Amino acid sequence: MIRRMATNPISPFPAGFLWGVSTSAHQIEGAADVREPSVWDAFTAEPGRVKDGSTAAVACDHYHRYREDVALLADLGVDAYRFSVSWPRVNSPGGLGFYDRLVDELCAAGVRPVVTLFHWDLPVTLDWLERDTAFRFAEYVSVVAERLGDRVAKWITLNEPAEHTLLGHALGVHAPGRELMFDALPVAHHQLLAHGLAVRALRAAGAGDIGIANSHAPVRPASGGPEDVAAAEFYDILLNRLFSDPLLLGRYPDGIEALLPGGPEGVESDLKVISEPLDWYGINYYAPSRVGAPQGEDIEFSGLSLPAELPFSVREIEGHPVTDFGWPVVPEALTELLAGFGERYGDRLPPVVITENGCSYEGIDDQERIAYLDGHIRALHRAMEAGADVRGYFVWSLLDNFEWAEGYARRFGLVHVDYTTLKRTPKASYAWLRDLLRARG
Ligand code: FCB
Repeated sequence: MIRRMATNPISPFPAGFLWGVSTSAHQIEGAADVREPSVWDAFTAEPGRVKDGSTAAVACDHYHRYREDVALLADLGVDAYRFSVSWPRVNSPGGLGFYDRLVDELCAAGVRPVVTLFHWDLPVTLDWLERDTAFRFAEYVSVVAERLGDRVAKWITLNEPAEHTLLGHALGVHAPGRELMFDALPVAHHQLLAHGLAVRALRAAGAGDIGIANSHAPVRPASGGPEDVAAAEFYDILLNRLFSDPLLLGRYPDGIEALLPGGPEGVESDLKVISEPLDWYGINYYAPSRVGAPQGEDIEFSGLSLPAELPFSVREIEGHPVTDFGWPVVPEALTELLAGFGERYGDRLPPVVITENGCSYEGIDDQERIAYLDGHIRALHRAMEAGADVRGYFVWSLLDNFEWAEGYARRFGLVHVDYTTLKRTPKASYAWLRDLLRARG
């Protein structure tokens, strides 16, 4: 059913507020034949890993069509474009040259480049279980910063280390497909260490305006009963605080350090690196979570199969519309999330940027996406009125793209992509966002 949008205008945001859209290399670039393979190439080559059996070998062919895509960005009128640099491409001859051309094209179009340095496409020869990968990452970051640093507006070290750890290494539904459950925790620690080393490498190369893009969601207990509350609290630690506490407070949540490589002593000095001060903190927000005590059986949730032995169970959130992906649409949870962050981290929290927010819906007349974005932008505005220091908002995503284990079945774009002809068609939501940005004057 199509919900028509509210007609009252969205209140103005402060001058200088950064409006943008986001993508990632593996999901849009294609041109897999002219770069080294990543763990995602190896994963998608295994039968049954990606639901529609597809790969990202061509994806949106952005590598060859980036000029057309930058023209779409310019016409949309965004201030900034968040994209990721593919580490395997940088390792390949001429690979960095592609990003050099892309950054030039963006600057010429008046769109500020915001670069993510790692968005899950690890070179296939590397492994986050190895501590050394953090140091290899910092070397790669120096090379990128050296080449692009004079034109990049903002840097993002990592995208969603929580999902990369959980989905890729604990549950095995994303690359590299490991099912280590709690033995995956070193992967989280090594990514956080890589983040801190990358912050230092960027600063050493003279680059500034550094952040990270972490996924966060308020966690609601399934009931007020002590078992549900305890399970929800544990889930909150695992998905939210395991990443934000070390970055912002310089310590892991209680009980986590003992599970990490080297135990508490080894981790102590790493935490100094991990908590290098940031210029801003990126939050990717899609939907809240509802969590209760284990139910003694495997749970199918949002395309995931969650094993019975987990100390929690993820539940459906009722009473809200859902996207085509089955994710509940709860804009007020974004206001709640930002208020909670302010309370927990106080003056340790730098200014926030919403680095991803969006939804998957079919169709070019995507009124549901307009309603989703409208609701979330208003929720963000309310959070700012209540005191949250938020400096930017990025829609996921510019284009429909390769949605990881879901393949091409999920369409998050403001622009429709026909995967046979690769033709781009702006959707109704693209026109809506363009009007919103133009109305700023
Ligand atoms: C986020 C990812 C992004 C995209 C969106 C839908 O978790 O960072 O690449 O897949 O979800």
